[in-house]
Amino acid sequence: MNERNMTQRVVLFCLFLTLAIGYIIAADNAAVEQRIDAIISQMTLQEKIGQLNQQTGQGTSEGMIKQIKSGTIGSILNETDPEVVNRLQHYAVENSRLHIPLIFARDVIHGFRTIFPIPLGQAATWNPALVEEGARIAAREAASTGIRWTFSPMVDISRDARWGRCAESSGEDPYLTEQMALAMIHGYQGDDLSQPGTMAACAKHFACYGASESGKDYNTTWIPEVLMRDVYLPPFEAAAKAGCATFMCSFNDINGVPSSGNSHLNRDILRGEWGYNGVLVSDWGSIQQMIPHGFCSDLKDAAMKGATAGVDIDMESYAYVQHLEQLVSDGKVAETVIDEMVRNVLRLKFRLGLFDNPYVDMKHANEFYAPESLEAAAKTAVESAILLKNNGLLPLRGAKKIALVGPMSNDKHNQAGTWSFDLEKERCVTPYEALTAVLGKENVIFEEGLTYSRDKNAEGIDKAVAIARDADVIVMIGGEEAVLSGEAHCRVNTTLPGAQTEMLRALKATGKPVVLIVMSGRPLAIVDEVEMADATIFMFHPGTMGGEAVARMLLGKAVPSGKLPMSMPRMSGQTPLYYSHKNTGRPASDMVLIDDIALEAGQTSTGCTSYYLDAGDGAAFPFGYGLSYSTFEYGPVTLSADNMGTDGEIIASCTITNTGKYEAAEVAQLYVRDLVGSLIRPVKELKGFEKLTLRPGESKTVKFSVKACDLGFHTLDLKKIVEPGEFHLWIAGDSASGTPITFNITE
Ligand code: BGC
Repeated sequence: MNERNMTQRVVLFCLFLTLAIGYIIAADNAAVEQRIDAIISQMTLQEKIGQLNQQTGQGTSEGMIKQIKSGTIGSILNETDPEVVNRLQHYAVENSRLHIPLIFARDVIHGFRTIFPIPLGQAATWNPALVEEGARIAAREAASTGIRWTFSPMVDISRDARWGRCAESSGEDPYLTEQMALAMIHGYQGDDLSQPGTMAACAKHFACYGASESGKDYNTTWIPEVLMRDVYLPPFEAAAKAGCATFMCSFNDINGVPSSGNSHLNRDILRGEWGYNGVLVSDWGSIQQMIPHGFCSDLKDAAMKGATAGVDIDMESYAYVQHLEQLVSDGKVAETVIDEMVRNVLRLKFRLGLFDNPYVDMKHANEFYAPESLEAAAKTAVESAILLKNNGLLPLRGAKKIALVGPMSNDKHNQAGTWSFDLEKERCVTPYEALTAVLGKENVIFEEGLTYSRDKNAEGIDKAVAIARDADVIVMIGGEEAVLSGEAHCRVNTTLPGAQTEMLRALKATGKPVVLIVMSGRPLAIVDEVEMADATIFMFHPGTMGGEAVARMLLGKAVPSGKLPMSMPRMSGQTPLYYSHKNTGRPASDMVLIDDIALEAGQTSTGCTSYYLDAGDGAAFPFGYGLSYSTFEYGPVTLSADNMGTDGEIIASCTITNTGKYEAAEVAQLYVRDLVGSLIRPVKELKGFEKLTLRPGESKTVKFSVKACDLGFHTLDLKKIVEPGEFHLWIAGDSASGTPITFNITE
């Protein structure tokens, strides 16, 4: 057979295989839909509504068992004992009339028992493969207790560091958030959700929650739909299209309508435009909360508006169980609407394989902390660490005695961060433990000084300074306690709390070199502290293996390679802050800062451009920023063509060389700017990135495909268009570096 015939045969075979697989999937789906039809046709209205009711677990209480047997509950939250899970499941499968299994759900946000860095830290790795692995480990551990549904990933765009929930997000950028979401979804769900060790993922909070006004949790949002579609919705759309099994409503109202009653979002966009057939669950009590929002008069009204808006499951509002039956008999909600909701829930149960395998396999129950899981957590913590500054002090070489101080240097609870429900804090390795394990206690003089992040005790500072005098180098590990970020934990003043800055100042005054490590749930305004320290590593709460990661980085066994997923402000008040802002008609220039303004200066003497008198303009450390122990040189960017049509593609390439002394990883970032638009375009937008590891002296060429269709935007009539015109393109190590080159999109 000649080569051409061979190729033709291979192509035909692949085509056949694709068609055959497509056919099998379609036939499988049709069979599942038929089984669902058969179940629904036997269900009483009360049983249907039961599937739409989600409640928190109460162990094997009599009330819970009664509910399960009568089929008035479809899923249970927060039950993590596999024996209890199996007993409850037994009642559902064996003792309820239709034998429909329950789903057990939990917020497994950044690991189950092996805690990974908080999601903002995972985003700082810019390493989707590593993030996917973390989600896979979380799913395996959680599923070994019976949890088959996690309420993660959170894909809310967060541009306001005051908002405590930015900790749970992937930060300010839609593209980075989308990549992280896809990685997590695939990590949790695998290729086949019915396989053991998988969990259904949940894209939340739909939608625009991250834009809560003034960074205060649960607050209102008012977002023009163009902005919603260009910035806030893309990660959700990507999640829907990637088969994310479930979505969750957000708490906020959007343009006057709470998400849980928002038909435009849930029906027109999610179901209609994106063709989503997964489950939409309310947030905790969010159906009931439409009453205080001022959108519903009472719980019955809330049940009606939730169901009408297409929210399938009522989490903890008890609105559906109490009122849907009556609403159906009053003709206010059609039973066909209920049937569709039930269909989505049953479809999820089939996808999870629960009808065939409802029970936890007790032979593999409670399997946690595999050595490779702990190693993955340590690696993720290293890759999430952002080196903000290094005057050559790091890694520590030749330092005989380290003075280890600061409230996060030996704090097992707080290094885990927010949403660590299943943390066993004794499993956390702190920096103190990891450093002494390598260097011996005699070489690490330890005195926290301040014992928790808000501590203002001056005596503590004195104690820290006293031990620092005997050391060669001071390592101060501070930050924010876990409880200062996360849900309902917002701050106006996003600085280092307590007397940490004073302690740093006092330590600096000893004349010893100082390494500052910050562990936090959000970007902090720490310009002065970074200035004082000789080196600064910023970590979002790094989880179980955080201390191990710190020791490896301090001692040069690992090189930090994190890049900021949110811009770091110079001052707290600089918020919202994001790199992809618009240019304005008067972009910042010739700034005269507050200390330089002459007495009785005229109103226009400081120029009339867009900046703050005290903070100037832009971030202290921009989005995408992060140093390494090594250095990288970016060669010139080349394009495969200078122009393309509106459906075209060009390839942008750049050679990156490790010009330093360490093997290290660098994140090459591709940014694009559409110079003139019928609607103004941002000054830069991230359109691609690649993390590469290079040995000293080694070069690699990154190649990015730039597709015109990815450079489009929504017009005021909500059509997505790609506009011809001139564009700039950068490939650089952060959002503020690089030299632009030009290309055009032509008609
Ligand atoms: C949070 C959700 C979470 C849910 C269930 C709510 O308070 O907003 O993110 O998944 O509780 O615990």
